[in-house]
Amino acid sequence: MQFEIFTLFPEVFTPYLQTSILQRAQQRGLITIHLHNIRDYTTDKHHITDDEPYGGGGGMVMKPEPIFAAVESVLGSPPPCPVILLTPQGRTFNYQIARHYAQFTELALICGRYEGVDERVREHLVSDELSIGDYVLSGGELPALVVVDAISRFVPGVLGDPEGAFDDSYASGLLEYPHYTRPAEFRGWKVPEVLLSGDHGRIARWRREQALLRTWQRRPDLLEKAALSKDDWSFLEKLRQTQPIFAEGDQDEI
Ligand code: ADE
Repeated sequence: MQFEIFTLFPEVFTPYLQTSILQRAQQRGLITIHLHNIRDYTTDKHHITDDEPYGGGGGMVMKPEPIFAAVESVLGSPPPCPVILLTPQGRTFNYQIARHYAQFTELALICGRYEGVDERVREHLVSDELSIGDYVLSGGELPALVVVDAISRFVPGVLGDPEGAFDDSYASGLLEYPHYTRPAEFRGWKVPEVLLSGDHGRIARWRREQALLRTWQRRPDLLEKAALSKDDWSFLEKLRQTQPIFAEGDQDEI
């Protein structure tokens, strides 16, 4: 899987990409990440990449020429792969979108900056626009790292475990059960007894119920799409009758 990242700040990417799972994935040739500085594709003396918006108003807009020149000289015209613009105006990135894009052999990511990019980039170069959440960052660099990381986890071999990201929290449609490691007691707080029991059946049941409980408390919306068994449904029914939904699970409250 090859990522072509177009940005005004390539240096932002390097430390994260040279760490842990993504570093190992690159060393093993499972993913390749090429960083392209949009400024290198300017043709004017001052290497200008932004300009004032037509019609007035504050802020600067990224000029179309260097972005088109960068993408087309790296990928050709038209680009043979998806070209994704990171912008708060995009559809919200999630597990399904990451999995979808992991099927491609090449992806281009354009990082917006300033007030935004010239609309002609969206209209004539970009095939998809992604946001990583309902807040505005200073640019698309962090969102591009988020997208590269999440997609790479679906590339076979990137995670040591063969099930990889398909086993992650969102794969089952449920949030993960709580995790514990040694010591069995820390400051008087004990690891749940069942996890020390060695009884794999009980442990599996406890984990499933904790995942259901957590999802029900924090993200009840996920339960609508999760694949649930008869046992899961009867556990949830018991919860409904006995437990109030936590206030902390309410996504609309601060
Ligand atoms: N650029 C600025 N904010 C962003 C966001 N939330 N998602 C994607 N790109 C962005």
